[in-house]
Amino acid sequence: MSTVSFFSTVQDGIELVEKRMRAQADEKSHPDLSAALDHLLASGGKRIRPTLGFLVGNMLGSPQDKLVTLGAAVEMLHTATLVHDDLIDGSLLRRGTPTLNARWSPAATVLTGDFLFARAAKLAAEADHLPLMKLFAETLAVIVNGELTQLFAARGLISRENYYQRIYAKTASLFEMSARAAAMVSPADEDVIEAVRVFGYEIGMAFQIMDDVLDFTGDQAAIGKPVGSDLLQGLVTLPALYYLENHPEDDDARLLRDGGWGNRERMERLVNSIRSSDAIRQAVGEARVRVESALEVIEQFHVSVERSALSELAHYIVDRNS
Ligand code: IPE
Ligand code: IPE
Ligand code: MG
Ligand code: MG
Repeated sequence: MSTVSFFSTVQDGIELVEKRMRAQADEKSHPDLSAALDHLLASGGKRIRPTLGFLVGNMLGSPQDKLVTLGAAVEMLHTATLVHDDLIDGSLLRRGTPTLNARWSPAATVLTGDFLFARAAKLAAEADHLPLMKLFAETLAVIVNGELTQLFAARGLISRENYYQRIYAKTASLFEMSARAAAMVSPADEDVIEAVRVFGYEIGMAFQIMDDVLDFTGDQAAIGKPVGSDLLQGLVTLPALYYLENHPEDDDARLLRDGGWGNRERMERLVNSIRSSDAIRQAVGEARVRVESALEVIEQFHVSVERSALSELAHYIVDRNS
């Protein structure tokens, strides 16, 4: 389908990004760090954030080498957050392979994540543009703050507003940064940089909404990570929020609201109820609205192959199954 075409336009760039990432463990690094980096890179991933950077940068005429550096920095930062996120969530599977925390001690996992953060910062510095370094550091602070807020939030109870803040912090902020950074290294005016920032923001919000939907409806083999796990950890996401609103009388929903998210059997039943309910369609609908907003933003740019690729990317965000 159409998704293949936009990924293929950036494939050479992505290969350079992966090569650059692989070079981040050198002969001075501990052999276990090199092995961990190899394991993480070999397990793949959609590379959606560097793809966004390439598509934006190509549309705006950015030099390719800057996009490779940025792409490697962004994907390295993303990988570091996943390493820590899986440890925090106790997730044992990612990209269809065991996570680092499934095989290593928490200490080794934390330190590997730290190493990846350090390398991500180094790569960002190699773009040789101070405002970018600042943006990078600010985004990392937003992500960490978001993960911490999620960790300390009352389990089983959140508002819609709180949900949007949370998904902005943990996910959309990095999409926003990828798009904005690619524009910052391009010959682009402030209003263009702002427009692509909004594009990144909207598809980033849609991306996390779909991740939360796939946690209910996804096929573990396709998404490569456990399904149904958010609610079992007391994490209320958009499909659950809609379900709670639509079915205030549901006993399991009531239990969740009363702090009973630790009751595994009842929560598994609730996951099944949500999975086959209208709440899924409502959440997907919201993601689609976000994608439509993103598409509107880029309409101001000249029609081009690059602009079409960006719009394919936006559609892919809500049509994906992995
Ligand atoms: C997973 O991101 C973490 C979220 C922000 C939902 P991706 O779905 O982009 O993960 P990979 O890199 O493709 O494995
Ligand atoms: C992860 O969000 C976001 C970050 C890594 C900051 P999720 O917890 O929803 O991601 P998955 O579902 O584990 O990939
Ligand atoms: Mg997680
Ligand atoms: Mg998730």
